[in-house]
Amino acid sequence: MNFQLPSLPYAKDALEPVVGLGTIEFHHGKHHQAYVNNLNNLIKGTKFEQMSLEEIILKSDGAIYNNAAQVWNHTFYFYSFKPGGGGNPKGQLAKAIEGEWGTFENFVKEFNAAALSLFGSGWAWLVKDNSGKLSIIQESNAGNPLTKGVTPILTFDVWEHAYYLDYQNRRADYLSSLWGIIDWDAVCARY
Ligand SMILES: [Fe+2]
Repeated sequence: MNFQLPSLPYAKDALEPVVGLGTIEFHHGKHHQAYVNNLNNLIKGTKFEQMSLEEIILKSDGAIYNNAAQVWNHTFYFYSFKPGGGGNPKGQLAKAIEGEWGTFENFVKEFNAAALSLFGSGWAWLVKDNSGKLSIIQESNAGNPLTKGVTPILTFDVWEHAYYLDYQNRRADYLSSLWGIIDWDAVCARY
């Protein structure tokens, strides 16, 4: 299978000022594209060529896993936002968050703390298990929670390439701003 870079569901400057045009151009146009290109080159002539992206993530390791997971993670991340997003989740996801963390505000605090304390590059994830129980997990580098048998609901990319142009080293400012562009319709549909 030849993987393609998915186009964004919004204009490149639509998430300004939370995520700037320059960040989108590099993060989606260069980094995400590079993971797609690397993956296509690495799987050429291997058994992975016939697999879906999810199958590759579950069955590979090393460079193939890293690039496949980064393609998946970035698509999932970019499809969590919309201009004029933010606010609170609704429906079953809202209930599950309140069941686990008491209030949405407390969940945001815990999620930000996990993303902020992640050492180096990686991802903070909200995931659910088979019973619908939610948890927040940290993954280093390309780590993708599908390998742990859980379902991803939301992720924040804390690689520096996600925020350095807009926030320099201020990861906490980047994290608190991201809540203002969440597309909760898209995120709630994953629960
Ligand atoms: Fe990234």
